[in-house]
Amino acid sequence: MCGIFAYLNYQVPRTRKEILETLVKGLQRLEYRGYDSAGVAVDGPKNNKDNNNNSITLIKKRGKVKNLDEELYKKDSDLDLDAVLGTHFGLAHTRWATHGEPSAVNCHPHRSDKDNEFVVVHNGIITNYKELKKYLNSKGYEFESETDTEVIPKLTKYVYDNRERDTISFSTLVERVIQQLEGAFALVFKSRHFPGEAVATRRGSPLLIGVRSESELSAEHIPIQYNSALFKEGVQEKNIHNRPDAVGGGKAVEYYFASDASAIIEHTNKVLYMEDDDVAIVTNGKLSIHRLNRQAGEDPVRLIKTLQMELQQIMKGNFEAFMQKEIFEQPESVVNTMRGRIVFDTDTVVLGGLKDHLKEIKRCRRLIMIGCGTSFHAAVATRQILEELTELPVMVELASDFLDRNTPVFRDDVCFFISQSGETADTLMALRYCKERGALTVGITNTVGSSISRDTDCGVHINAGPEIGVASTKAYTSQFVSLVMFGLMVSEDRVSLQKRRGEIIQGLKDLPELIKKVLALDNKIKAIADELYEQRSLLVMGRGFNYATCLEGALKIKEITYMHSEGILAGELKHGPLALIDKHMPVIMIIMRDACYQKCQNALEQVTARSGRPIILCCQDDVEITKNAYKTIELPHTVDCLQGILSVIPLQLMSFHLAVLRGYDVDCPRNLAKSVTVE
Ligand code: UD1
Ligand code: M6R
Repeated sequence: MCGIFAYLNYQVPRTRKEILETLVKGLQRLEYRGYDSAGVAVDGPKNNKDNNNNSITLIKKRGKVKNLDEELYKKDSDLDLDAVLGTHFGLAHTRWATHGEPSAVNCHPHRSDKDNEFVVVHNGIITNYKELKKYLNSKGYEFESETDTEVIPKLTKYVYDNRERDTISFSTLVERVIQQLEGAFALVFKSRHFPGEAVATRRGSPLLIGVRSESELSAEHIPIQYNSALFKEGVQEKNIHNRPDAVGGGKAVEYYFASDASAIIEHTNKVLYMEDDDVAIVTNGKLSIHRLNRQAGEDPVRLIKTLQMELQQIMKGNFEAFMQKEIFEQPESVVNTMRGRIVFDTDTVVLGGLKDHLKEIKRCRRLIMIGCGTSFHAAVATRQILEELTELPVMVELASDFLDRNTPVFRDDVCFFISQSGETADTLMALRYCKERGALTVGITNTVGSSISRDTDCGVHINAGPEIGVASTKAYTSQFVSLVMFGLMVSEDRVSLQKRRGEIIQGLKDLPELIKKVLALDNKIKAIADELYEQRSLLVMGRGFNYATCLEGALKIKEITYMHSEGILAGELKHGPLALIDKHMPVIMIIMRDACYQKCQNALEQVTARSGRPIILCCQDDVEITKNAYKTIELPHTVDCLQGILSVIPLQLMSFHLAVLRGYDVDCPRNLAKSVTVE
């Protein structure tokens, strides 16, 4: 998904080379989001003939940030890299194509005209761009790209050229422009008419501002309570009031604008999260926030928060890929999900975010769990135990299909929105749909401050920590644990369920140790991957509590290894998939000691009778299975409804090894993005 990074140094002398390095580093930190091209805008003449002091140069390149970086230092460039710039504002962007193919001309920053009077970076989609383009065309503006974004700088120039008075501030100009825009956006503007000034705004796409200043941020602090995984508890924070001299105060200061904290954290941990329709302006080194269409009584105060996310938390450490690191983090991430929420001595579970809504939830007509991809699989994985513990009907829905069907939703429904990023467009649209119909909305999100986390009535932060690999791994197991905890909380006063609750809570307590045992099978799994990696296809079969593991395992495999892979419900075997089985077709079967054990064994017989040679995921010491099996991966046994947390890990590891053996970029699979913020 697109990434924004921009850097303003005010009275902090930097060479142009240093500025470019900062911009490129910012983009590198955003690379994990997935992108296909990258670009920057900095002050400077584009060639020797350009005598205008306020010129802006754009450098854009298709492909990796590395390609852009090489382009910046080409010998024939006229940019004076050693020039020292006391005050400067530079933009950078990574693009993930939505309108128009990946190319340098479609890449950001986009510009108003050949003289680069206004340049803009944009995340999101402008839905009324066609109408705007038509209008601007009729006024003589010529477009060079196929993007929706290009209407923004063109419209800015149009408003500027047609201003009624001689002077107009940069922020007023931007406010007028965004009043015309429909859709979702995070935008940062730069202009040769306003050198050293920055304007940023958002509606529906995240944007934050980092502030680094020696003098300013230690003064006037007021304590507020803001506890989260990312923010330090009880941290001292600073109010930014809606007045122009709020931060910066004209002294030396640096600002970092980004769509994601990972690009900022190495420069400063003081950040301000912008809200929809905020317009942030930096003039003479001072940052202020204006509200567009401010409502009466609305609180204009914004806070600078202290991020506790360490850079090392988002770096690979000793692992080959973020995905691998995240798989191995699972013994800790599931503990973080449970931390402070389960009291093991008394079998009590309290999800702070849901306790005030418990009565309403217990009275509801049904639970609807909605998500996409892996997050949807977390719903499938926990449906059965939630039906059992809540004694409510539970529907599971893919967000896109749910919307396509105009599914009936009622006031007495409780709708769960499961999302690692909290920004997935389909899930967010489904959330809005359910909200409009009066249902109680509950988020299960990993990203504090994300749109889904903010827009739901209540919810649970799964606290798995930042997940950078595009393939979701630790978020899945933490979503799984969160949903089970929800079932446990709802069933606390059901006498008949106490024994069951007790065994599940014990299972959760033992989970980290059992996950470590599964991770210890890595070498064995790698050896199996060595045998399989040249295959074209891989089937994953199971049923009951482990059906979701099949879907999730197959998704992991197809997503990063580009092999065809299918998760098959073993009960459906005879209704079609059995035709695929022969001695050449690789099959993984999941056969755990649970209520489906016998039925799974029947499926195994059907497969072996057709000369299939399945690799079986089974419980440790299950002689019945291991004696005749071609190959087994033996897992520790746990309570049936948690077994899926253990059985998915070998498939996460398998997909990782297959992708490495096939020579693919594990963390950035082709055509995919970490955060899918378009429908
Ligand atoms: C909160 C703190 C946590 C602290 C704990 C201990 C935050 C973000 N979390 O966790 O750092 O350790 O108290 O007291 O401050 N919410 C939604 N939608 C979502 C997710 C959450 O509306 O998708 C809401 C919840 O209803 C709640 C708030 O956000 O009001 C925080 O949720 P969560 O972090 O899960 O709450 P606690 O577990 O209480
Ligand atoms: O951030 P979300 O959980 O809402 O993302 C949903 C899917 O896009 C995501 O799970 C996707 O399927 C993963 N890349 C799978 O590994």
